[in-house]
Amino acid sequence: MSAKIISGNEIAKQIREELRQEVAELKAKHGLTPGLVTILVGENPASVSYVTAKNKTAHELGFHSFQDNQPADISEAGLLALVDKYNKDPAIHGILVQLPLPKHINETKVLYAIDPDKDVDGFHPVNVGKLMIGEAVFLPCTPAGIQQLLIRSGVETKGAEVVVVGRSNIVGKPIANILLQKQKGANATVTICHTGTKNTKEHTLRADILVVAAGVPKAVTADMVKPGAVVIDVGVNRIGKSESGKAILCGDVDYEPVKEIAGMITPVPGGVGPMTITMLMLNTVKAARLAKGLR
Ligand SMILES: NC(=O)c1ccc[n+]([C@@H]2O[C@H](COP(=O)([O-])OP(=O)(O)OC[C@H]3O[C@@H](n4cnc5c(N)ncnc54)[C@H](OP(=O)(O)O)[C@@H]3O)[C@@H](O)[C@H]2O)c1
Repeated sequence: MSAKIISGNEIAKQIREELRQEVAELKAKHGLTPGLVTILVGENPASVSYVTAKNKTAHELGFHSFQDNQPADISEAGLLALVDKYNKDPAIHGILVQLPLPKHINETKVLYAIDPDKDVDGFHPVNVGKLMIGEAVFLPCTPAGIQQLLIRSGVETKGAEVVVVGRSNIVGKPIANILLQKQKGANATVTICHTGTKNTKEHTLRADILVVAAGVPKAVTADMVKPGAVVIDVGVNRIGKSESGKAILCGDVDYEPVKEIAGMITPVPGGVGPMTITMLMLNTVKAARLAKGLR
């Protein structure tokens, strides 16, 4: 039997509707409008499209949101000063610096300069550390989206064997950390595979929940998946262009054959992708609430 499709489009829509209502309530009851600034350095086309989408979603939800475009040759000191300005701006609750930055700017230095209370991407070491010790405030957006996909699809994570393929700081490590916490929607037994793993298939075949973030098209094939497993495909690989010039995307999972074995699966596109921006919005609303002393 073919797997049930987990629709990130549908779940993201649901969460955005909840957020829209929450924002309206925050404005009406507390005079509070969540504020988000997206800082874009240069004109990298992928970055331009990500930032535009983030800003558009923020507007749709009723945020005070704007894009701060800076030239590619802005100095590191100039960018740090800009971050500092927004750190001090009480109308701004979330600061997002779109990566990658030009080579002459130290990305780590810039990310570390963001006030952890406004770090809605969840990349500041203070927030990474809080996640590690089970005191998370802002979860990084893509892994947070994956957890929501599991929770809202009724997948039992408690006691589940989770195998994560990939150990990046933005996906692999944080999703592993999230799912191993002794908390609701987590409490799993987690294994992380990477290019140093001796026999990845041996691990993936044990997985009740398999999260794949390898950045390699079709890295996980049907013979690597346990029948009935929940498969979350984080990969976004551009493998060509359609006749109309649109990018053809594929995930890190060999979707069609794996769909015939898995119990549930996320498609690419329309799976994890739409959740990332949605969780950025959720983090910004949370930052606004915390800044106002609301739970
Ligand atoms: N949908 C979204 O919103 C979203 C967000 C972020 C990323 N993504 C996508 O998710 C994918 C992963 O992104 P990333 O930033 O985590 O990638 P990354 O930084 O390139 O990390 C890839 C990880 O996968 C491991 N790996 C690669 N091939 C492997 C294999 N055959 N077996 C086991 N492990 C393997 C690497 O191991 P080593 O550490 O040993 O090199 C590395 O840890 C990409 O396709 C990216 O475009 C999507």
